[in-house]
Amino acid sequence: MAELAKVEKIVAAYKDIKTPLIYILKDVQKEFGHLSEDVLTGVARTTNIPLAEIYGVATFYSLFTTKPKGRHIVRCCNNAPCHVNGSKQVLNKIKEYLGVETGETTPCGTFTLEFTSCLGLCAVAPVMMIDDEVYGNLTPEKAMAILKDYKMKGRSHA
Ligand code: FES
Repeated sequence: MAELAKVEKIVAAYKDIKTPLIYILKDVQKEFGHLSEDVLTGVARTTNIPLAEIYGVATFYSLFTTKPKGRHIVRCCNNAPCHVNGSKQVLNKIKEYLGVETGETTPCGTFTLEFTSCLGLCAVAPVMMIDDEVYGNLTPEKAMAILKDYKMKGRSHA
């Protein structure tokens, strides 16, 4: 199967590394979008690392996901400085607009909504991140306008 061939190629790239699992999972996730059971089984078969150990690593680190995510990841900060500056109202508007709760992906697969801890930008709280872009001084209306822009253009926000 094509999936297994891709996994084997990724694993081969790390054959000289003593503990390659994190690197392998990072590349495999980049290739497939998430770490499905099939793909993790392929990693186990190719590396001879027990599936339980691989699954443990894949579910321990927050940078890995075993579920498919949207094309854009919306991360809303919910630490105290953002909270006192209105992050809850911003988050509620985003949830209402996208029709999802935190941890969920929109049915169209465009957005996944998540929490993040402090992004170090408390001076411009409340803050959210979409993919690698950070947006501060948010209001519910501003957050919605940004999301609409992503939805309409289908690309990263400039
Ligand atoms: S608390 Fe939200 S960026 Fe620091």
